Amino acid sequence: MAKILVTGGAGYIGSHTTLLLLEAGYEVVVIDNLSNSSLESLRRVEQITDKRVTFYKVDLREENKINDIFTEHEIESVVHFAGLKAVGESTEIPLDYYEQNVYGTLSLLKVMERNNCFNIVFSSSATVYGDPASVPITEDFPISATNPYGRTKLFIEEILRDLSVSNDKWRIVLLRYFNPIGAHESGLIGEDPQGIPNNLMPFVSQVAVGKRDKLSVFGNDYDTVDGTGVRDYIHVVDLSDAHVKSVEKIKEFEGVSTFNLGTGNGYSVLQMIDAFIKETGKPVPFSIEPRRPGDIAECWADASLANQKLDWKAERGLSEMIKDTWRWQNQNPNGYDN
Ligand code: NAD
Ligand code: WQD
Repeated sequence: MAKILVTGGAGYIGSHTTLLLLEAGYEVVVIDNLSNSSLESLRRVEQITDKRVTFYKVDLREENKINDIFTEHEIESVVHFAGLKAVGESTEIPLDYYEQNVYGTLSLLKVMERNNCFNIVFSSSATVYGDPASVPITEDFPISATNPYGRTKLFIEEILRDLSVSNDKWRIVLLRYFNPIGAHESGLIGEDPQGIPNNLMPFVSQVAVGKRDKLSVFGNDYDTVDGTGVRDYIHVVDLSDAHVKSVEKIKEFEGVSTFNLGTGNGYSVLQMIDAFIKETGKPVPFSIEPRRPGDIAECWADASLANQKLDWKAERGLSEMIKDTWRWQNQNPNGYDN
């Protein structure tokens, strides 16, 4: 079976995708510098699947070491997750974001080209739609960036489009994720944010488990169903499944293919809190605070293109997303640091 290189495979989405790739019968080689993850995630993937992962602790920017890995393994396709992802932090240390995300990707692409590996699935983000003029969002909406993190995604997308023009061997899949939440149903792997979580669901579950006193709801004066922000939350296992489908179909595609990955449903912050309390029976104290700078009112996907071309659709609803988030949080109150 073909070998797949997963960059950032010890991270949240990378570990779930590695698991599904192994279950689908692929051999998986993971590279990760472990800057935002722990090797324990991959140990647990091995435990769940009873299969082995080949792991290298290496940084994307270490071009020679990555080249050695391509020499050692015949890699058919790359699934590229590795990078920094905190929007707020990216405004404070933009150069780190450009270096790790953009330069790191350039280093990877050069090695791929040198080793005749031309298939890549890239983690893009709905953040490239900026503040969309309307919802649901289709892939042909104009793209823009409102912060350095988003701009790295935008630049990498453009670089990949330029690359596809330079050589028609390239098969590039850009996956634009909406809001990934949830965890594997085993409760053994999940999202393990370092420090104070930036995203809504990790924060809510840390409040519910007693690690934080209360949630701040950022604004209740948006033009939405109840004034709070509306997003398209998608189960991480559904999201990961779209990567397996992309790897399966990538050779049928030409040039660059772009897909939204969402459910097509939007939920407000207050609806998420209500649903969480209903599913878990845990209280989630919160207070209404000012808007978070840079946030948009609402955002959800039209994911019909992924349905047509990848034969993929999100299967898991909100209740499953919340139950799985909670199982992971409750069984691992300190993440992988137990
Ligand atoms: P994560 O931080 O859990 O995973 C990223 C992994 O990459 C980590 O294991 C980290 O150690 C590794 N890494 C970072 N920089 C590296 C480098 N220079 N060299 C080698 N390894 C490096 O994040 P995630 O949530 O799993 O996100 C994966 C990808 O999906 C990222 O590219 C992110 O921007 C993108 N994305 C995430 C979301 C989200 O909300 N989680 C939404 C849209 C897009
Ligand atoms: C969701 C909603 C907040 C935290 C971010 C990135 C995006 C993508 C996914 C990578 C919003 C509200 C949040 C809190 C709150 N990442 N909220 N209290 O902002 O949609 O997207 O993650 O590509 O690029 O921007 O996700 O989970 O941070 O917020 O009220 O403590 O929850 O205002 O309405 P967001 P999020």
